[in-house]
Amino acid sequence: MRLSDCHNFDDFRRLARRRLPGPIFNYIDGGADDEVTLRRNRAAFEACDLVPSVLRGMSDVDLSVTVMGQRLALPVYLSPTALQRLFHHQGERATAAAAEAHGTMFGVSSLGTVSMEELARKHRNPQVYQFYFHKDRGLNRAMMQKAKDSGIKVMMLTVDSITGGNRERDLRTGFAIPFRLTAAGMAQFAMKPMWGINYLRHEKFSLPQLDAHIDMKGDTLTIGRYFTEMLDPAMDWDDVAAMVAEWGGPFCLKGVMSAADARRAAEIGCTGIVLSNHGGRQLDGSRAAFDALDEVVQAAGDRLDVMMDGGVTRGTHVLKALSLGAKAVGLGRYYLFPLAAAGQAGIERALTQMTAELQRGMRLAGARRVADLTRDNLRFRPA
Ligand SMILES: Cc1cc2nc3c(=O)[nH]c(=O)nc-3n(C[C@H](O)[C@H](O)[C@H](O)COP(=O)(O)O)c2cc1C
Repeated sequence: MRLSDCHNFDDFRRLARRRLPGPIFNYIDGGADDEVTLRRNRAAFEACDLVPSVLRGMSDVDLSVTVMGQRLALPVYLSPTALQRLFHHQGERATAAAAEAHGTMFGVSSLGTVSMEELARKHRNPQVYQFYFHKDRGLNRAMMQKAKDSGIKVMMLTVDSITGGNRERDLRTGFAIPFRLTAAGMAQFAMKPMWGINYLRHEKFSLPQLDAHIDMKGDTLTIGRYFTEMLDPAMDWDDVAAMVAEWGGPFCLKGVMSAADARRAAEIGCTGIVLSNHGGRQLDGSRAAFDALDEVVQAAGDRLDVMMDGGVTRGTHVLKALSLGAKAVGLGRYYLFPLAAAGQAGIERALTQMTAELQRGMRLAGARRVADLTRDNLRFRPA
């Protein structure tokens, strides 16, 4: 199987599975507990159907959107994800470059493996800095300052991860940073020697967003302990209001899921929220973002930009979310499996396919611009 054999999400996932050691594939693929929310995210899009409008003279289609003041050529962006150089040696460099080639925004995680400064220097497209809130307020201020100095405009604070999710696939393989492989996990690494050779031939693993602040060398701090010991579960609305004021630019909360919290986010001055359950990796049994979208847009869509992510694998999923009022839609595994399968070329192929699906879908649905997609384009099925 080669890159040219990949025509959709499941193809890329299959190719990534062939290339990656089992523990890494399962870290990307898996969710928390029984993975109910993970499955729900994808199924949610099937609860409603598109209602096309015909004979609208659909010669040109414009896919561009403006979200949090950023102009994007596509209504999708690459959501921040951790540890990308473990998936492919190009890591975040591939993600940023592919996003730039398609005129869209990408996120850099606090747990990213390439520095946000380097990416901001090299790329013109909007970059989001994904932030976790630490107990050490000085550290929070220093990280925000670093993002500001790098020229990053949009801050994205993840609020659904004040403690780590229970990823049982990772417990079985021993996936952790630093690696704590079980015998089974080790055997799975041994089955993919090419990954190991490639990994060792490239720049040593590091977490540049955190390196200056936290000693991750040796065995002193695992990522699991980063979540339980460094992050502040006491974070509240007042803390975030202070951060929003200090940042002074577009600020969004990732992981809001209720109408009441969306209104509160608007009250403290947030420019946007991302409805998200972290790809089913945190609170299992929580609702799919798509299922919550309608009521949240009704409650707060006129006061801030509502985005969503989770389970998006098709252009038509994006069209459904836009029809309910999402300003843009985040992609996670949709670009991570292509990254693992083939680096930048993989992500570019996936984004080219997404663009073609969006264009085709808009034409067939009878929408010339994203703003033409409204709730009239959707019908929910009776339960
Ligand atoms: C392997 C992996 C790592 C992730 N790392 C982060 C992270 O560091 N910070 C964050 O806010 N979200 C992280 N996420 C969540 C994504 O940003 C996004 O919310 C989620 O993947 C969307 O679901 P999807 O994968 O079904 O598209 C991660 C997701 C995956 C799959």
